[in-house]
Amino acid sequence: MSILSGKRILLGVTGSIAAFKAADLASKLTQAGAEVDVILTGAGEKFVTPLTFQSVTGRRAYTDEDLWGDEAHIVHISLGKKADLLVIAPCTANTIAKLARGVADNLLTVTALAATCPLLIAPAMDGGMYDHPATQQNLKTLQTRSVRVAGPATGRLASGLSGVGRMIEPMEILGYIRIALGKNGKLTGKKIIVTAGGTQEAIDPVRVITNHSSGKQGYALAQAALDAGADVTLVTAPTALTPPVGAKVVHIKSAQDMLDALMNESADALIMAAAAADFRPKETAKDKIKKRDGIPQIPLEGAPDILKAVSGSGSGEKRFKVMVGFAAESQDLLQNASEKLKSKGLDFIAANDISARDAGFAVETNRIALLFADGRQELLPLMSKSEAAEKIVEHIARLLK
Ligand code: PMT
Repeated sequence: MSILSGKRILLGVTGSIAAFKAADLASKLTQAGAEVDVILTGAGEKFVTPLTFQSVTGRRAYTDEDLWGDEAHIVHISLGKKADLLVIAPCTANTIAKLARGVADNLLTVTALAATCPLLIAPAMDGGMYDHPATQQNLKTLQTRSVRVAGPATGRLASGLSGVGRMIEPMEILGYIRIALGKNGKLTGKKIIVTAGGTQEAIDPVRVITNHSSGKQGYALAQAALDAGADVTLVTAPTALTPPVGAKVVHIKSAQDMLDALMNESADALIMAAAAADFRPKETAKDKIKKRDGIPQIPLEGAPDILKAVSGSGSGEKRFKVMVGFAAESQDLLQNASEKLKSKGLDFIAANDISARDAGFAVETNRIALLFADGRQELLPLMSKSEAAEKIVEHIARLLK
Protein backbone atom coordinates (compact mmCIF):
# COMPACT_ATOMS: atom_id res chain seq x y z
CA MET A 1 0.00 0.00 0.00
CA SER A 2 2.38 2.66 -1.13
CA ILE A 3 -0.27 5.34 -0.64
CA LEU A 4 0.08 4.87 3.13
CA SER A 5 3.79 4.40 3.22
CA GLY A 6 5.46 7.25 5.15
CA LYS A 7 2.14 9.04 5.75
CA ARG A 8 1.48 10.52 9.18
CA ILE A 9 -1.95 9.56 10.43
CA LEU A 10 -3.33 11.04 13.61
CA LEU A 11 -5.92 8.66 15.05
CA GLY A 12 -8.39 9.99 17.61
CA VAL A 13 -10.19 7.42 19.75
CA THR A 14 -13.30 8.45 21.68
CA GLY A 15 -15.52 6.64 24.19
CA SER A 16 -17.37 3.84 22.47
CA ILE A 17 -17.29 0.07 22.62
CA ALA A 18 -16.01 0.30 19.02
CA ALA A 19 -12.74 1.70 20.48
CA PHE A 20 -11.34 -1.84 20.53
CA LYS A 21 -11.63 -1.90 16.73
CA ALA A 22 -9.51 1.25 16.58
CA ALA A 23 -6.57 -0.85 17.76
CA ASP A 24 -7.00 -3.05 14.70
CA LEU A 25 -7.18 0.06 12.50
CA ALA A 26 -3.98 1.44 14.09
CA SER A 27 -2.30 -1.90 13.48
CA LYS A 28 -3.40 -2.09 9.83
CA LEU A 29 -2.21 1.49 9.19
CA THR A 30 1.15 0.75 10.81
CA GLN A 31 1.59 -2.46 8.80
CA ALA A 32 0.88 -0.47 5.63
CA GLY A 33 3.84 1.80 6.45
CA ALA A 34 2.07 4.78 8.05
CA GLU A 35 3.32 6.55 11.19
CA VAL A 36 0.34 6.48 13.51
CA ASP A 37 -0.02 8.83 16.48
CA VAL A 38 -2.99 8.06 18.68
CA ILE A 39 -4.89 10.46 20.94
CA LEU A 40 -7.39 8.95 23.36
CA THR A 41 -10.10 11.00 25.03
CA GLY A 42 -10.84 10.34 28.71
CA ALA A 43 -13.88 8.25 27.72
CA GLY A 44 -11.83 6.43 25.08
CA GLU A 45 -9.33 5.45 27.80
CA LYS A 46 -12.14 3.74 29.70
CA PHE A 47 -12.53 1.25 26.83
CA VAL A 48 -8.90 0.77 25.71
CA THR A 49 -5.56 1.75 27.17
CA PRO A 50 -2.78 3.84 25.61
CA LEU A 51 -0.58 0.76 25.98
CA THR A 52 -2.77 -1.12 23.50
CA PHE A 53 -2.03 1.49 20.86
CA GLN A 54 1.63 1.87 21.79
CA SER A 55 1.99 -1.88 21.33
CA VAL A 56 0.61 -1.89 17.79
CA THR A 57 2.05 1.42 16.53
CA GLY A 58 5.43 1.33 18.28
CA ARG A 59 4.85 4.99 19.20
CA ARG A 60 3.60 6.62 22.36
CA ALA A 61 -0.13 7.23 22.55
CA TYR A 62 -1.37 10.57 23.90
CA THR A 63 -4.06 11.25 26.52
CA ASP A 64 -5.51 14.32 28.20
CA GLU A 65 -2.66 14.20 30.70
CA ASP A 66 -0.40 15.39 27.91
CA LEU A 67 -2.52 18.51 27.59
CA TRP A 68 -1.25 19.60 30.98
CA GLY A 69 2.26 18.19 30.80
CA ASP A 70 5.56 19.98 30.08
CA GLU A 71 5.18 19.76 26.31
CA ALA A 72 1.51 20.75 26.36
CA HIS A 73 1.59 23.64 23.91
CA ILE A 74 3.89 21.70 21.56
CA VAL A 75 1.85 18.52 21.61
CA HIS A 76 -1.50 19.74 20.38
CA ILE A 77 -0.07 22.09 17.77
CA SER A 78 2.66 19.81 16.45
CA LEU A 79 0.57 16.65 16.23
CA GLY A 80 -2.04 18.43 14.13
CA LYS A 81 0.48 20.28 11.98
CA LYS A 82 2.56 17.23 11.10
CA ALA A 83 -0.36 14.96 10.19
CA ASP A 84 -1.42 14.13 6.64
CA LEU A 85 -4.84 13.12 7.93
CA LEU A 86 -6.74 13.23 11.21
CA VAL A 87 -9.05 10.23 11.60
CA ILE A 88 -11.41 9.99 14.55
CA ALA A 89 -12.63 6.39 14.86
CA PRO A 90 -14.81 5.77 16.72
CA CYS A 91 -16.27 9.26 16.85
CA THR A 92 -19.10 9.64 19.39
CA ALA A 93 -22.12 11.93 19.12
CA ASN A 94 -20.49 14.03 21.87
CA THR A 95 -17.24 14.53 19.93
CA ILE A 96 -19.19 15.17 16.69
CA ALA A 97 -21.09 17.93 18.53
CA LYS A 98 -17.83 19.42 19.88
CA LEU A 99 -16.21 19.38 16.44
CA ALA A 100 -19.26 21.05 14.88
CA ARG A 101 -19.18 23.81 17.53
CA GLY A 102 -15.43 24.23 17.73
CA VAL A 103 -15.37 23.15 21.36
CA ALA A 104 -11.80 22.38 22.44
CA ASP A 105 -11.90 20.87 25.92
CA ASN A 106 -9.59 17.86 25.62
CA LEU A 107 -6.37 17.02 23.77
CA LEU A 108 -8.21 15.51 20.80
CA THR A 109 -10.62 18.40 20.22
CA VAL A 110 -7.89 21.02 20.86
CA THR A 111 -5.72 19.22 18.27
CA ALA A 112 -8.63 18.96 15.81
CA LEU A 113 -9.14 22.71 16.05
CA ALA A 114 -5.47 23.41 15.48
CA ALA A 115 -4.95 20.83 12.72
CA THR A 116 -4.70 21.95 9.11
CA CYS A 117 -4.94 18.50 7.55
CA PRO A 118 -8.18 16.87 6.30
CA LEU A 119 -10.45 15.27 8.90
CA LEU A 120 -12.24 11.92 8.54
CA ILE A 121 -14.67 10.69 11.18
CA ALA A 122 -16.23 7.25 11.67
CA PRO A 123 -19.33 7.82 13.82
CA ALA A 124 -20.32 5.25 16.45
CA MET A 125 -23.27 5.62 18.77
CA ASP A 126 -26.26 3.84 20.18
CA GLY A 127 -30.01 3.76 19.60
CA GLY A 128 -31.60 6.89 18.26
CA MET A 129 -28.55 9.09 18.91
CA TYR A 130 -27.51 9.02 15.27
CA ASP A 131 -31.00 9.88 14.02
CA HIS A 132 -31.42 12.70 16.53
CA PRO A 133 -31.84 16.04 14.72
CA ALA A 134 -28.96 17.50 16.76
CA THR A 135 -26.53 14.82 15.57
CA GLN A 136 -27.78 15.05 11.99
CA GLN A 137 -27.41 18.83 12.05
CA ASN A 138 -23.90 18.55 13.49
CA LEU A 139 -22.89 16.06 10.80
CA LYS A 140 -24.24 18.37 8.09
CA THR A 141 -22.27 21.25 9.56
CA LEU A 142 -19.09 19.17 9.49
CA GLN A 143 -19.73 18.03 5.92
CA THR A 144 -20.13 21.60 4.74
CA ARG A 145 -16.62 22.10 6.13
CA SER A 146 -15.38 19.19 3.96
CA VAL A 147 -15.10 16.77 6.87
CA ARG A 148 -15.40 13.22 5.49
CA VAL A 149 -17.92 10.98 7.23
CA ALA A 150 -17.38 7.22 6.94
CA GLY A 151 -20.45 5.25 8.00
CA PRO A 152 -22.04 4.43 10.37
CA ALA A 153 -23.38 0.99 9.49
CA THR A 154 -26.67 -0.63 10.40
CA GLY A 155 -26.65 -3.61 12.75
CA ARG A 156 -26.65 -4.74 16.35
CA LEU A 157 -25.76 -1.95 18.76
CA ALA A 158 -24.15 -2.25 22.19
CA SER A 159 -27.51 -1.75 23.90
CA GLY A 160 -28.87 -4.81 22.13
CA LEU A 161 -30.98 -2.60 19.88
CA SER A 162 -30.63 -2.86 16.14
CA GLY A 163 -30.28 0.27 14.05
CA VAL A 164 -27.93 2.76 12.43
CA GLY A 165 -24.95 3.62 14.59
CA ARG A 166 -22.34 0.84 14.38
CA MET A 167 -18.86 2.00 13.45
CA ILE A 168 -17.90 0.57 10.06
CA GLU A 169 -15.17 -2.08 10.02
CA PRO A 170 -11.47 -1.07 10.14
CA MET A 171 -10.86 -2.42 6.62
CA GLU A 172 -13.58 -0.14 5.30
CA ILE A 173 -12.24 2.86 7.24
CA LEU A 174 -8.88 2.10 5.66
CA GLY A 175 -10.56 2.41 2.24
CA TYR A 176 -11.91 5.86 3.18
CA ILE A 177 -8.47 6.88 4.44
CA ARG A 178 -6.93 5.86 1.09
CA ILE A 179 -9.50 7.95 -0.79
CA ALA A 180 -8.82 10.97 1.42
CA LEU A 181 -5.05 10.62 0.90
CA GLY A 182 -5.38 10.07 -2.86
CA LYS A 183 -7.61 13.01 -3.59
CA ASN A 184 -4.92 15.04 -5.35
CA GLY A 185 -3.32 12.06 -7.07
CA LYS A 186 -2.11 11.60 -10.62
CA LEU A 187 -5.54 10.53 -11.88
CA THR A 188 -7.71 13.08 -10.09
CA GLY A 189 -10.57 14.08 -12.37
CA LYS A 190 -10.10 11.01 -14.58
CA LYS A 191 -12.56 8.17 -15.00
CA ILE A 192 -11.11 4.69 -15.13
CA ILE A 193 -13.02 1.48 -15.82
CA VAL A 194 -11.49 -1.80 -14.67
CA THR A 195 -12.83 -5.27 -15.46
CA ALA A 196 -12.03 -8.20 -13.20
CA GLY A 197 -12.64 -11.89 -12.59
CA GLY A 198 -13.52 -14.85 -14.75
CA THR A 199 -16.78 -14.64 -16.66
CA GLN A 200 -19.30 -17.47 -16.34
CA GLU A 201 -21.01 -18.89 -19.42
CA ALA A 202 -24.12 -20.86 -18.45
CA ILE A 203 -24.57 -24.42 -19.69
CA ASP A 204 -27.83 -24.86 -17.77
CA PRO A 205 -29.28 -23.27 -14.61
CA VAL A 206 -26.66 -25.14 -12.53
CA ARG A 207 -23.45 -25.37 -14.53
CA VAL A 208 -21.12 -22.81 -16.07
CA ILE A 209 -17.93 -22.65 -18.11
CA THR A 210 -15.46 -20.40 -16.34
CA ASN A 211 -11.73 -20.11 -15.56
CA HIS A 212 -9.34 -19.69 -12.62
CA SER A 213 -9.39 -15.90 -12.38
CA SER A 214 -9.90 -14.80 -8.77
CA GLY A 215 -10.28 -11.11 -9.63
CA LYS A 216 -7.26 -10.21 -7.44
CA GLN A 217 -5.35 -8.42 -10.19
CA GLY A 218 -8.42 -6.49 -11.37
CA TYR A 219 -9.42 -5.45 -7.83
CA ALA A 220 -5.84 -4.34 -7.14
CA LEU A 221 -5.99 -2.20 -10.28
CA ALA A 222 -9.27 -0.63 -9.15
CA GLN A 223 -7.68 0.15 -5.76
CA ALA A 224 -4.52 1.58 -7.35
CA ALA A 225 -6.62 3.85 -9.59
CA LEU A 226 -8.63 5.00 -6.53
CA ASP A 227 -5.38 5.66 -4.66
CA ALA A 228 -4.35 7.87 -7.59
CA GLY A 229 -7.56 9.89 -7.15
CA ALA A 230 -9.55 8.46 -10.09
CA ASP A 231 -13.26 7.98 -10.33
CA VAL A 232 -13.36 4.19 -10.68
CA THR A 233 -15.96 1.80 -12.06
CA LEU A 234 -15.26 -1.87 -11.45
CA VAL A 235 -17.07 -4.24 -13.79
CA THR A 236 -16.69 -7.57 -12.08
CA ALA A 237 -17.51 -11.19 -12.73
CA PRO A 238 -18.37 -13.21 -9.59
CA THR A 239 -15.45 -13.30 -7.12
CA ALA A 240 -14.96 -13.90 -3.40
CA LEU A 241 -13.43 -10.44 -2.95
CA THR A 242 -14.76 -7.27 -1.33
CA PRO A 243 -14.68 -4.38 -3.81
CA PRO A 244 -12.50 -1.43 -2.81
CA VAL A 245 -14.24 1.43 -0.99
CA GLY A 246 -15.15 4.22 -3.38
CA ALA A 247 -15.47 2.16 -6.56
CA LYS A 248 -18.76 2.07 -8.41
CA VAL A 249 -19.34 -1.66 -8.83
CA VAL A 250 -21.18 -3.34 -11.71
CA HIS A 251 -21.74 -7.07 -11.19
CA ILE A 252 -21.92 -9.17 -14.33
CA LYS A 253 -21.68 -12.87 -15.14
CA SER A 254 -21.02 -13.57 -18.81
CA ALA A 255 -18.77 -12.03 -21.45
CA GLN A 256 -21.93 -10.69 -23.12
CA ASP A 257 -22.99 -9.02 -19.82
CA MET A 258 -19.53 -7.47 -19.58
CA LEU A 259 -19.78 -6.16 -23.12
CA ASP A 260 -23.28 -4.77 -22.43
CA ALA A 261 -21.99 -3.03 -19.30
CA LEU A 262 -19.18 -1.38 -21.27
CA MET A 263 -21.10 -0.57 -24.42
CA ASN A 264 -22.71 2.60 -23.03
CA GLU A 265 -19.67 3.68 -21.05
CA SER A 266 -16.90 6.06 -21.91
CA ALA A 267 -13.86 6.80 -19.77
CA ASP A 268 -10.33 8.10 -19.82
CA ALA A 269 -9.05 4.54 -19.58
CA LEU A 270 -10.29 0.98 -19.76
CA ILE A 271 -8.22 -1.74 -18.11
CA MET A 272 -9.36 -5.20 -19.19
CA ALA A 273 -7.91 -7.44 -16.49
CA ALA A 274 -10.90 -9.80 -16.61
CA ALA A 275 -10.48 -13.27 -17.98
CA ALA A 276 -13.45 -13.12 -20.31
CA ALA A 277 -14.53 -16.30 -22.04
CA ASP A 278 -13.51 -16.91 -25.63
CA PHE A 279 -16.10 -19.68 -26.04
CA ARG A 280 -19.58 -20.21 -24.67
CA PRO A 281 -22.28 -22.87 -25.06
CA LYS A 282 -24.26 -22.25 -28.21
CA GLU A 283 -27.43 -22.68 -26.19
CA THR A 284 -28.19 -22.55 -22.47
CA ALA A 285 -30.51 -25.38 -21.43
CA LYS A 286 -33.64 -24.03 -19.70
CA ASP A 287 -33.71 -26.91 -17.19
CA LYS A 288 -30.94 -28.80 -15.44
CA ILE A 289 -29.38 -31.37 -17.77
CA LYS A 290 -30.07 -34.75 -16.17
CA LYS A 291 -27.27 -37.22 -15.53
CA ARG A 292 -29.60 -40.09 -16.33
CA ASP A 293 -29.85 -38.81 -19.95
CA GLY A 294 -26.16 -39.62 -20.52
CA ILE A 295 -23.16 -37.40 -21.19
CA PRO A 296 -24.35 -34.34 -23.09
CA GLN A 297 -22.76 -32.88 -26.21
CA ILE A 298 -22.35 -29.15 -25.60
CA PRO A 299 -21.67 -27.31 -28.85
CA LEU A 300 -19.71 -24.08 -28.34
CA GLU A 301 -19.64 -20.79 -30.19
CA GLY A 302 -17.37 -17.75 -29.93
CA ALA A 303 -18.11 -15.27 -27.12
CA PRO A 304 -17.95 -11.60 -28.13
CA ASP A 305 -14.45 -10.12 -28.18
CA ILE A 306 -15.12 -7.27 -25.76
CA LEU A 307 -11.98 -5.23 -26.41
CA LYS A 308 -12.48 -5.36 -30.16
CA ALA A 309 -16.14 -4.40 -29.82
CA VAL A 310 -15.51 -1.37 -27.58
CA SER A 311 -12.43 -0.07 -29.36
CA GLY A 312 -14.69 1.03 -32.27
CA SER A 313 -15.49 4.72 -32.44
CA GLY A 314 -19.31 4.63 -32.23
CA SER A 315 -19.95 8.37 -32.41
CA GLY A 316 -16.70 9.24 -34.16
CA GLU A 317 -14.95 9.79 -30.84
CA LYS A 318 -12.83 7.20 -29.07
CA ARG A 319 -14.88 5.77 -26.20
CA PHE A 320 -11.77 5.13 -24.09
CA LYS A 321 -8.74 7.40 -24.48
CA VAL A 322 -6.38 4.71 -23.22
CA MET A 323 -7.06 0.99 -23.58
CA VAL A 324 -5.05 -1.57 -21.63
CA GLY A 325 -5.35 -5.32 -22.03
CA PHE A 326 -3.85 -8.37 -20.36
CA ALA A 327 -2.60 -11.44 -22.15
CA ALA A 328 -2.72 -14.68 -20.21
CA GLU A 329 -0.31 -16.98 -22.00
CA SER A 330 1.17 -20.39 -21.30
CA GLN A 331 3.62 -20.27 -24.26
CA ASP A 332 5.35 -17.75 -26.57
CA LEU A 333 4.43 -15.00 -24.07
CA LEU A 334 5.80 -11.91 -25.77
CA GLN A 335 4.91 -12.94 -29.32
CA ASN A 336 1.30 -13.80 -28.47
CA ALA A 337 0.91 -10.69 -26.32
CA SER A 338 2.29 -8.51 -29.09
CA GLU A 339 -0.25 -9.95 -31.56
CA LYS A 340 -3.10 -9.23 -29.11
CA LEU A 341 -1.78 -5.69 -28.55
CA LYS A 342 -2.11 -4.99 -32.28
CA SER A 343 -5.27 -6.95 -33.10
CA LYS A 344 -7.20 -5.42 -30.18
CA GLY A 345 -5.98 -1.86 -30.84
CA LEU A 346 -4.51 -1.38 -27.36
CA ASP A 347 -2.19 1.31 -26.02
CA PHE A 348 -0.40 -1.33 -24.00
CA ILE A 349 -0.80 -4.88 -22.82
CA ALA A 350 0.37 -6.68 -19.67
CA ALA A 351 1.67 -10.11 -20.66
CA ASN A 352 1.11 -12.71 -17.97
CA ASP A 353 3.02 -15.98 -17.96
CA ILE A 354 0.33 -18.18 -16.43
CA SER A 355 2.54 -21.27 -16.47
CA ALA A 356 4.56 -19.86 -13.54
CA ARG A 357 3.33 -20.93 -10.11
CA ASP A 358 3.86 -17.52 -8.54
CA ALA A 359 2.16 -15.44 -11.26
CA GLY A 360 -1.17 -15.18 -13.08
CA PHE A 361 -4.34 -16.79 -11.80
CA ALA A 362 -5.40 -16.66 -8.14
CA VAL A 363 -1.97 -16.10 -6.49
CA GLU A 364 -0.98 -12.90 -4.64
CA THR A 365 1.94 -12.08 -6.91
CA ASN A 366 2.41 -11.41 -10.60
CA ARG A 367 5.23 -11.16 -13.10
CA ILE A 368 4.22 -9.10 -16.08
CA ALA A 369 5.83 -7.67 -19.19
CA LEU A 370 4.37 -4.41 -20.49
CA LEU A 371 4.31 -4.12 -24.27
CA PHE A 372 3.46 -0.68 -25.67
CA ALA A 373 1.95 0.26 -29.04
CA ASP A 374 5.11 2.22 -29.93
CA GLY A 375 7.24 -0.92 -29.55
CA ARG A 376 8.65 -0.22 -26.08
CA GLN A 377 8.81 -3.13 -23.65
CA GLU A 378 9.18 -3.17 -19.88
CA LEU A 379 9.84 -6.51 -18.20
CA LEU A 380 8.83 -6.28 -14.56
CA PRO A 381 10.14 -8.64 -11.88
CA LEU A 382 7.93 -10.70 -9.57
CA MET A 383 5.91 -8.35 -7.37
CA SER A 384 2.62 -8.21 -5.51
CA LYS A 385 -0.48 -7.69 -7.62
CA SER A 386 -0.89 -4.32 -5.87
CA GLU A 387 2.60 -3.25 -6.97
CA ALA A 388 1.93 -4.46 -10.53
CA ALA A 389 -1.32 -2.46 -10.47
CA GLU A 390 0.51 0.67 -9.33
CA LYS A 391 3.00 0.33 -12.23
CA ILE A 392 0.15 0.01 -14.74
CA VAL A 393 -1.66 2.99 -13.24
CA GLU A 394 1.53 5.08 -13.45
CA HIS A 395 1.79 4.33 -17.18
CA ILE A 396 -1.87 5.22 -17.72
CA ALA A 397 -1.36 8.55 -15.90
CA ARG A 398 1.64 9.27 -18.16
CA LEU A 399 -0.33 8.46 -21.31
CA LEU A 400 -3.22 10.67 -20.20
CA LYS A 401 -1.00 13.65 -19.45
O1 PMT B 1 -7.85 -12.61 -11.47
P1 PMT B 1 -6.52 -13.13 -10.99
O2 PMT B 1 -6.63 -14.47 -10.31
O3 PMT B 1 -5.78 -12.13 -10.17
O4 PMT B 1 -5.63 -13.42 -12.28
C1 PMT B 1 -5.20 -12.37 -13.09
C2 PMT B 1 -5.35 -12.71 -14.56
C3 PMT B 1 -4.37 -13.80 -14.93
C4 PMT B 1 -6.77 -13.14 -14.89
C5 PMT B 1 -5.07 -11.38 -15.37
O5 PMT B 1 -3.89 -10.87 -14.97
C6 PMT B 1 -5.10 -11.62 -16.86
O6 PMT B 1 -4.15 -12.03 -17.46
N1 PMT B 1 -6.28 -11.28 -17.47
C7 PMT B 1 -6.58 -11.54 -18.87
C8 PMT B 1 -6.97 -12.96 -19.08
C9 PMT B 1 -7.38 -13.19 -20.54
O7 PMT B 1 -8.55 -13.35 -20.80
O8 PMT B 1 -6.41 -13.14 -21.40
P2 PMT B 1 -6.59 -13.37 -22.98
O9 PMT B 1 -5.20 -13.44 -23.45
O10 PMT B 1 -7.51 -14.51 -23.22
O11 PMT B 1 -7.30 -12.04 -23.49
C10 PMT B 1 -6.57 -10.90 -23.94
C11 PMT B 1 -7.35 -9.63 -23.60
O12 PMT B 1 -8.61 -9.64 -24.28
C12 PMT B 1 -7.65 -9.49 -22.14
O13 PMT B 1 -7.47 -8.16 -21.76
C13 PMT B 1 -9.11 -9.91 -22.02
O14 PMT B 1 -9.77 -9.22 -20.96
C14 PMT B 1 -9.66 -9.48 -23.37
N2 PMT B 1 -10.79 -10.32 -23.83
C15 PMT B 1 -10.75 -11.67 -23.71
C16 PMT B 1 -11.82 -12.43 -24.13
C17 PMT B 1 -12.95 -11.76 -24.66
N3 PMT B 1 -14.03 -12.45 -25.05
N4 PMT B 1 -12.96 -10.42 -24.80
C18 PMT B 1 -11.89 -9.68 -24.39
O15 PMT B 1 -11.88 -8.47 -24.52
